[in-house]
Amino acid sequence: MTGIGIHDIAVATGHHVLELDDLAVQLGVDPAKYHVGIGQDAFSVPAPDEDIVTMGAAAAKQVVDRHGVEGIRTVLFATESGIDQSKAAGVFVHGLLGLPQNVRTVELKQACYGGTAALQLALGIVARNPAERVLVIAADVARYDVDTAAEPTQGAGAVAILVSADPDLIEIEPVAGLFTADVDDFWRPNDRSTALVDGRLSVSAYVDAFIGAWDDLASRGGPAYDTIDRWVHHQPFTKMALKAHRKLTQHVGADFDETELRTGFTYNRQVGNTYTASLWIALAAVLDLDDDLAGKRIGMFSYGSGSVGELVTGVVRPDHQRHRRVGAVRADLDARVRLSVPEYRALHAAGAATSEDTERPRVTAAPFRFSGVLGGARHYEATAAATATTATAAATATTATEAAGTAGE
Ligand code: CAA
Repeated sequence: MTGIGIHDIAVATGHHVLELDDLAVQLGVDPAKYHVGIGQDAFSVPAPDEDIVTMGAAAAKQVVDRHGVEGIRTVLFATESGIDQSKAAGVFVHGLLGLPQNVRTVELKQACYGGTAALQLALGIVARNPAERVLVIAADVARYDVDTAAEPTQGAGAVAILVSADPDLIEIEPVAGLFTADVDDFWRPNDRSTALVDGRLSVSAYVDAFIGAWDDLASRGGPAYDTIDRWVHHQPFTKMALKAHRKLTQHVGADFDETELRTGFTYNRQVGNTYTASLWIALAAVLDLDDDLAGKRIGMFSYGSGSVGELVTGVVRPDHQRHRRVGAVRADLDARVRLSVPEYRALHAAGAATSEDTERPRVTAAPFRFSGVLGGARHYEATAAATATTATAAATATTATEAAGTAGE
């Protein structure tokens, strides 16, 4: 076995997009405040028949189509925006994907940090039995009240990460930097579907957690700052990563070059805040778009308000480029259907989770949809897109197998 880490990563997002230029007109704000001031261009908005389950399943399906289900005995679903107080969202995904029954499935919560907790649990499970693989899903719909300062920092998206021994993409290093502090910067009481946030406090709490996690990493023998080649961060808005990283460079006495962070901003500027998925969507962008990553060490900073921070490092595998699917995420982003501000606000008003019986209109083009609530229980179904993408994946796998067979002849 040569290390444990990220074997594959896939991204999914919502059906719709709101351009922040349109929100700026509505609110009488200079668009530069969004594009430059907070570093965001747009955010994804789920269709009425989409939620964290449909997006999480869409991301996980890509991973399962590519690698099969062999060895998967654990599904970890991290989210801030859970759709049930009791049942784990991952159980719905398990059913939609037809995963084997001998699987443990659980949901994790700590604001935007849960995906990283899930990754660490997955690494531990694989360390105990390297034949196992763990499917980690992080999915969120970031919802704030309209007409608040936080409104432009909403978003929706999911990632699925397959954690395994001898990974194709990134070997995660054993030392992590940890930080917890009880802060009321962002929270969501059980009777609310939109978060409460003290925006300014959340910025300083994020920075404190980043510096605290760095100091912990350094004190435990983690890599020196100048041996970390790339950085990705949790990005509630991309300017946050710039602010925090500038502080870290001051703290360690290094130069700050903001252009070095830009590749990791590429997808997040378009999908908005995706809470638990945000850091990992930044990582997906770097893996997709940076052509010089082989053997490079990446620093990954995770932050969840309330607050928990964790700094993880990993080393990119030499042949990671063989596994890239450049253009897939960009195509999904470009395929989103643009909403006007009144259309987005109507969806926002109707977007809270409900236990009342409803039937959802057919809107999404994704492989799975939320069909509605019946008897208080949520129901999901596969769409025609699920069959089409599975067939394509099977054909691709067959072609790859044939090519490998031919090469070996
Ligand atoms: N051109 C260029 N820049 C402009 C501008 C213009 N015309 N007008 C304003 N700006 C700049 C400002 O100078 C400011 O820059 P700095 O921060 O570098 O000083 C920036 O745009 C934002 O301006 P304001 O501070 O006036 O913005 P605001 O009061 O509208 O609030 C916010 C910004 C606090 C981030 C708000 O959007 C918010 O509360 N967002 C939600 C909370 C959040 O995401 N917090 C981040 C960390 S917490 C976290 O991680 C939680 C989580 O995900 C679960």
